[in-house]
Amino acid sequence: MNRARNAAPRRIAILGSTGSIGSQALAVMAEAQPEMTEPWHPVLLTAGKRVAPLLKQLQQQPPECCVVIDPDDIAAFEAAAGDGTRLLVGEQHQLDAIAHLDLDLVLNGITGAAGLRASIATLEAGIDLALANKESLVTAGALLRSCARASGARIIPVDSEHSAVMQCIADSDPATIQRIILTASGGPFRGKTRDQLRDVTVEQALQHPTWKMGPRISIDSATLFNKALEVIEAQELFGLPPAGIEVLVHPQSIVHAIVEYQDGSSIAHLGEPDMRVPIRHALHQGTRTVGQFQPLDLVHRGQLTFESVDHTTFPALQIAQVVLDHPGTTLGAVLNAADEEAVAGFLSGSVGFLQIYQLVEKALQQHSPEDLVSLEQVIETDRETRERVRSWYL
Ligand SMILES: NC(=O)c1ccc[n+]([C@@H]2O[C@H](COP(=O)([O-])OP(=O)(O)OC[C@H]3O[C@@H](n4cnc5c(N)ncnc54)[C@H](OP(=O)(O)O)[C@@H]3O)[C@@H](O)[C@H]2O)c1
Repeated sequence: MNRARNAAPRRIAILGSTGSIGSQALAVMAEAQPEMTEPWHPVLLTAGKRVAPLLKQLQQQPPECCVVIDPDDIAAFEAAAGDGTRLLVGEQHQLDAIAHLDLDLVLNGITGAAGLRASIATLEAGIDLALANKESLVTAGALLRSCARASGARIIPVDSEHSAVMQCIADSDPATIQRIILTASGGPFRGKTRDQLRDVTVEQALQHPTWKMGPRISIDSATLFNKALEVIEAQELFGLPPAGIEVLVHPQSIVHAIVEYQDGSSIAHLGEPDMRVPIRHALHQGTRTVGQFQPLDLVHRGQLTFESVDHTTFPALQIAQVVLDHPGTTLGAVLNAADEEAVAGFLSGSVGFLQIYQLVEKALQQHSPEDLVSLEQVIETDRETRERVRSWYL
């Protein structure tokens, strides 16, 4: 039963609250309080490891429950007990809390395939899911959609491009859409040649020109694998064939997406790059509200420019095409797991920038795809792929 449909959501879980999305979600909720007749109540906060930033969040607004999957400072975490917040350790507690805390909305800001179980648990419990964790849709979109259908819960995109598409579609009949265009900033290496990318450093790759994000998505933005994941995410969310979704490089990141209709109209979504805007839109489930943002100043911007993707230098979209051509299979889990492992290898200095493409392509080529039938199958595919990719570079 979906309780959030007719009322403003009040009891919210922020999964991955210490991350870029999670902390911005808390900031949006804090700014919204004076304006809201029914203020937000973050009842569950979760993190992967980092206890110190989580304890800071607990002091600001204590939730009913707080879970860390694998704490980096268990003593500090346990010492914080006793102020009314239940402090728990381990992934199962995160899943149990989602099921039992009588939540109206879960915002999943976990990074990577680690967020998948929580997305499924949310939808199975009939709770609306504000989804930043695109990996859930990439690895198991068909399973998520089937859980949502069965329980009546909604999947609300948080990713800026997908939030933009949703707003451009609004009440239009999806059958009248001709094409969706997702924009990409092009990342820190836009305009470079393949040769120039051979020796780029982690620090250079983390310097995203327009967005401030966690390390995995920042590296994915530099390789353009983030855009490949987003095209798959769009296919899962909006149900267009792969040929109906295009990517355009737009370095200023002002136009987030364009929806072209069969009658010749194209509707675009514009705004300064600021993740608080799509987060706010997801938290309010489509209702327009007030909040802090940097006003759009097109005169100051002067020019908005657009260019095609350089597939020779950045072959991520071409490598991922096989996943788009075989929707509803284990290939999405392979793409994501191989990329996560390759990025981890790059961040630790064991993998070169261009090797990320080679590792992901090889993992996809060596996999015999199966139709998606269960969560266990996705988790096993993820595990096998990581093991294989690690054996290639370690
Ligand atoms: N950042 C953006 O602007 C942006 C934009 C669009 C979409 N997204 C998507 O949003 C997701 C999060 O990105 P991000 O940039 O916010 O990442 P991030 O800054 O690295 O934060 C990741 C969060 O996930 C937590 N975490 C890791 N493993 C976990 C687990 N097993 N269970 C619970 N929490 C876990 C981390 O905890 P610790 O702090 O303890 O490590 C941290 O709170 C990704 O899927 C990304 O693609 C992000």
